[in-house]
Amino acid sequence: MSNVTKEFIAGLPKAELHLHIEGTLEPELKLKLAQKNQIDIGQKSIEEVKSAYEYNDLASFLSVYYPAMNVLQTESDFYELAFDYLKRAAKNNVRHVEIFFDPQAHTSRGISFETVINGLYRATLDARALNIDASLIMCFLRDFTKESARKTLESALKHRDKIVGIGLDSDEHNNPPLKFARQFEDAAAVGLHRTVHCDIDQKDSIEHIRQALEIMEVERLDHGTNIVEDPDLVELVVKRGIGLTSCPLSNGFVSPEMKGKEVLELLSKDVKVSIHSDDPAYFGGYISDNYSAIASNFELTKEQVIQLAKNSFETSWISDKQKELYLEELNTYVANN
Ligand code: ADE
Ligand code: ZN
Repeated sequence: MSNVTKEFIAGLPKAELHLHIEGTLEPELKLKLAQKNQIDIGQKSIEEVKSAYEYNDLASFLSVYYPAMNVLQTESDFYELAFDYLKRAAKNNVRHVEIFFDPQAHTSRGISFETVINGLYRATLDARALNIDASLIMCFLRDFTKESARKTLESALKHRDKIVGIGLDSDEHNNPPLKFARQFEDAAAVGLHRTVHCDIDQKDSIEHIRQALEIMEVERLDHGTNIVEDPDLVELVVKRGIGLTSCPLSNGFVSPEMKGKEVLELLSKDVKVSIHSDDPAYFGGYISDNYSAIASNFELTKEQVIQLAKNSFETSWISDKQKELYLEELNTYVANN
């Protein structure tokens, strides 16, 4: 057993850097919006919704995940989704969050880009009242075409000021980062930050990590823990200060040991790995639950838990001054708890 308590973890100031807003759609809100928007989701109770949550790999998860998004129809639905999440984040003492969203999952079913971004953005503004600063990362769906990504970036650039960066998610199988090299170049040219999902134990995990780092020069890797198999790439992320955002509870659905050993190995090698939630409504817990899961299963020391939280601020996309303030707040908390 780790000697780090749940109370210590809950109060620890932290940054959330790997959180899909669509993955925070709790069964209660799903049913409420289905009723309001008269969408038949095939389930009528929380138990029925939860009983559909059966997945053991990325593809089987995504096949449950995308159809559920149908219940999101109006700007206020997106606002409610995001603001509900932000209230939960505040309870986990998340001080800064960079929220992923998947516009193509909505535009492909007839919802406008503006409906999505305006609802989400308004929630990020209202996050200030919760003492959280929140920003948005727009992800491309990697199983869609390059042309679809090009159009999506075009829509996004009309809202440049509402987005801090871009990411790449969805089904990684045969969808390498390089497929989107052009969009990443165009995004970099207008100052957008860049990250890429390199999901765990994929067919080409190491090659995808290599492309993302060496060719596309991303600033973070989402998941990416398979990097332990390649010491040269580990050396590269240490040298560049690249952050790796690991999500123990979602890892636990597709891998027996939630990649805890890999996270510890990376920490011991000074890689800036940190802990996050991924799709908390689908994988059984929010950010503090993810910290607690890895802390208790792998007997983390208090120092290791603190380092994970420090890494989350250090690899976040905020100013150096703001990072300093959050790290000071974290140090004060640690001194008093
Ligand atoms: N979309 C939502 N969660 C995801 C994950 N863990 N990997 C890839 N795409 C996702
Ligand atoms: Zn993810």
